[in-house]
Amino acid sequence: MSSKPIYVTQPYLPPLKEFIPYLEQIWDNKILTNGGPMHQQLEDALCDYLGVEHIALFNNGTIALLTALQALRVTGEVITTPYSFVATAHSLLWNGIKPVFVDIDPQNLNLDPAKIEAAITPQTTAIMPVHCYGNPCDVKAIQRIADNYNLRVIYDSAHAFGVKDAGGSILRHGDLSVLSFHATKVFNTFEGGAIVCPDAKTKQRINNLKNFGIVDEVTVVAPGINGKMSEINAAFGLLQLQHIDRVMNRRREIDAIYREQLSTIKGIRLIEKTEQVVENNSYFPILIEPEYALSRDDLYNKFKESNIFARRYFYPLISEFPMYRGMQSARRNNLSVANDAAEKVLCLPIYPAMENSDVTRILDIIKEY
Ligand SMILES: Cc1ncc(COP(=O)(O)O)c(C=O)c1O
Repeated sequence: MSSKPIYVTQPYLPPLKEFIPYLEQIWDNKILTNGGPMHQQLEDALCDYLGVEHIALFNNGTIALLTALQALRVTGEVITTPYSFVATAHSLLWNGIKPVFVDIDPQNLNLDPAKIEAAITPQTTAIMPVHCYGNPCDVKAIQRIADNYNLRVIYDSAHAFGVKDAGGSILRHGDLSVLSFHATKVFNTFEGGAIVCPDAKTKQRINNLKNFGIVDEVTVVAPGINGKMSEINAAFGLLQLQHIDRVMNRRREIDAIYREQLSTIKGIRLIEKTEQVVENNSYFPILIEPEYALSRDDLYNKFKESNIFARRYFYPLISEFPMYRGMQSARRNNLSVANDAAEKVLCLPIYPAMENSDVTRILDIIKEY
């Protein structure tokens, strides 16, 4: 095979020489972690960029999810979506919480608010929805249910960096919102994550929990974890922010080409956009419907033969993995929309270094059938 491989994503890396001055600063001041100057600067810069009041940085999004649940003392059962990356539900199991899976909306593949109430029991304490692919959930409907039943809402916003609705950052919704800065994300710090929180008191509790529960030299208040972001990751984040507008613009351009070219192909369905006024184009999912000439897996394999590595996100569903599939809420008849989506979805490559000719190569394969 002669053509160059195209992967579903490729991390954005700024020019290496731009990173050197940051490293020199770290070498000069010899502070490597524990909330050093780079960490402080990145928290401030992200609050500014995202338009949020308080943010606590983490070493990855999974530890941030785990800590968010602890910060709000969530216990019992939590309603969540099966249509996500497995870390969403794993964060519940790690806290001894039972995930209760609720089906998704067929148009946007986010947790379906109309199905939440039926899953609430006396043990339910919270809802953990995901802004899947960066498309905002129906935050108003979810908050209404949470208010009626006195539930907490923690958004897994791993895909939603920079997304805004008419009122501002999508990350302001719910009690807490959790980001991932993993290498595959729109904004990456190699590994990293964050919790967006509404007030300084909550942030202080989160800061304690991500530092072993330590409050001061002689006081430990909780069995906290080591969730701190290191100075090197924070420095990289500061540099990434210098490039983020270019990254977002290129993603937008690629999304527009795909959207325009695919909208008329029979059997290829695009996911409906929801309430965003600023989107991040983090993924480009398509659904392969029966009217298309190939099945989803046949198209996935055709791509592979041409050295193109699209991904079946999210397949298998979280509810199909062994630690979840015995649960009543994981039954297929409870999750028919999610199961259908998992059989049909294919995420096409999208990343800032992609050339228009790469996009054409992908579109040509889809149009061939
Ligand atoms: C929806 C979702 N939740 C959680 C995570 C976990 O984040 P991390 O890889 O930073 O631990 C990811 C991505 O990796 C994700 O896509």
